[in-house]
Amino acid sequence: MYNNEKTRFPEGFLWGGATAANQIEGGFNAGHKGLNIADVLPGGKERLNILMSAGFDFEIDHENYRYPNHEAIDFYHRYKEDIALFAEMGFKAFRLSIAWTRIFPNGDESEPNEEGLAFYDRVFDELHKYGIEPVVTISHYEMPLHLVKEYGGWRSRQVVPFFEKYAKVILTRYKEKVKYWMTFNEINGALKMPIMSMGFSPQSEESRYQETFQAFHHQFVASALAVKACKDLIPEAKIGCMILFAPVYSYDSNPENVMYALKEEELFNFFCSDVHVRGKYPAFIERFFKEKKITLEIQEGDLEIIKEGTVDYIGLSYYMSRTDKKEKTQAETAQGNIVGGVKNPFLKASDWGWEIDPIGLRISVNKLYSRYEIPLFVVENGLGAYDKLEEDGSIHDDYRIDYLREHVKAMGEAVQDGVELMGYTSWGCIDLVSMSTGEMSKRYGFIYVDKNDDGSGTLDRKKKQSFHWYKKVIESNGEVL
Ligand code: BG6
Repeated sequence: MYNNEKTRFPEGFLWGGATAANQIEGGFNAGHKGLNIADVLPGGKERLNILMSAGFDFEIDHENYRYPNHEAIDFYHRYKEDIALFAEMGFKAFRLSIAWTRIFPNGDESEPNEEGLAFYDRVFDELHKYGIEPVVTISHYEMPLHLVKEYGGWRSRQVVPFFEKYAKVILTRYKEKVKYWMTFNEINGALKMPIMSMGFSPQSEESRYQETFQAFHHQFVASALAVKACKDLIPEAKIGCMILFAPVYSYDSNPENVMYALKEEELFNFFCSDVHVRGKYPAFIERFFKEKKITLEIQEGDLEIIKEGTVDYIGLSYYMSRTDKKEKTQAETAQGNIVGGVKNPFLKASDWGWEIDPIGLRISVNKLYSRYEIPLFVVENGLGAYDKLEEDGSIHDDYRIDYLREHVKAMGEAVQDGVELMGYTSWGCIDLVSMSTGEMSKRYGFIYVDKNDDGSGTLDRKKKQSFHWYKKVIESNGEVL
């Protein structure tokens, strides 16, 4: 189990775990919380297709569907028990999101909901009791449903001041308690699927890019306004963006494919971080806008806001790489790899078809760091797998340990490459509801939660083998793997 390879993580490295409100809290209508987009997501592999289907009315339909996020793992009531377990593993940081609709149930009210604010006060206090730093995502696939239905999501410019207000309220309230912030979770993910983060599905294939990039523009302005507010209100805090990074490899040395991979990488991996970090639209996007006939509506002052609201660090999720070529057949496609591409003959995949590539993490952070030279924070990474609960209550998830060990090693190599890494919060440190499939059986945690896909289970928590492994990793600052 142990080896002597030194990974040399810096002192103060933020080891921990990551979650999102909608995937753990439950209590979907408790404490005057309003509905958000995750609350109308049915369970099952078809959930995103249902949500994106034409004519979907964003209503809850108990006759036909189950809604696993409504109860999730009941962190809303069990946060003390869960945080005590994180503390036992030695967490230095815990990434969570604030559910926008606990604070503004509809999104457009003038006054925030005190019950929602008080809930996160309790959670942050509990974390500080154990010396765990909260790392807060302001928006993690939790847009108020009212803003989706009445305003058309981030397509509408009107959402910008609502978000700014929400951000200012939480930054002010928690300024003594939260020093690490991020604006939009996986902002670039909207290029694949805008519904979760932008709150709309494009009206047609033709208008897809126009709608998505206009919504991006609104989010960039909103994010920059939140960054500016954070710097004014909590000067000692760090606020970052958050992107989904999947390095794009050319399938072969054919220059056509190499060029294709490069362009795909620019657009998917770098476009959003270029704007967030450099405070301006990158040169390469002009040609894309021209070819796709995209005209952005940019209000006076927007570009200055974007310029002034640049981030302190980049938070990234890393699960897989993408191998691609310009012309591909259906048979070559990598089934299940959510970022697409063709099958990589050198890689194995998870039970859900996500290709496992630890070196890809080292490649990703090297690419990001050499482009921007600002700190990076790996705020999501992990293996969704089926776990077996043995009769004696143990869970032998050595496959998860293997996965995490190789990714931690890759980060250690990156640190030695000169990459400035702030921390690592592995995804789903406690089992939670899968975002893409709504399953409980796609488990990521060090802590097992007794809950099944059909909603049954006691919600009891149990330590997996990986719990004990991760504790040693943290204790040794990544030396004992
Ligand atoms: C990221 C999201 O895309 O991947 C998380 O930020 C999500 O919300 C995670 O849960 C893993 O994806 P899934 O579909 O396995 O839950």
